[in-house]
Amino acid sequence: MTKVKLRVNGQDHEREVEPRTLLVELLRDGLGLTGTHVGCDTSQCGCCTVHLDGKAVKSCNILAVQAEGREITTIEGLAQGHELHPVQKAFSECHALQCGFCTPGMIMAMSAFLAAKPKPSDEEIYDALEGNICRCTGYVNIVKAVKQ
Ligand code: FES
Ligand code: FES
Repeated sequence: MTKVKLRVNGQDHEREVEPRTLLVELLRDGLGLTGTHVGCDTSQCGCCTVHLDGKAVKSCNILAVQAEGREITTIEGLAQGHELHPVQKAFSECHALQCGFCTPGMIMAMSAFLAAKPKPSDEEIYDALEGNICRCTGYVNIVKAVKQ
């Protein structure tokens, strides 16, 4: 077992993990942050996307020990108190979800994308969504939400 210290949603945590533990396993099983979903475990679907030092990463593709000393934000930490993040609001207002399974990952990916590029073109939005798979919506309302 290895000790890992990390800051998640503004709170410091220290846990003993096996060296092979994935970051998503630590977040879900170790810290109870089950808003980060696992859709594939092979780095394809994007459901497990979180922010690592402000950048969107797939947490099934990173070992927990690689997050040592890093700052992580999950979907649970995106809102400011009761005030939803603008991307959360846009997904809700544009009805950019059906089952919602992909939604936390979509929102984490798109919030990091829009922070870096506040006025993207349609093409840039399509490119940015490439790593996040939705099986329900057909993407029309997701793109609408990202534009909003
Ligand atoms: Fe991480 Fe699918 S669970 S990309
Ligand atoms: Fe169901 Fe995206 S809303 S997978």
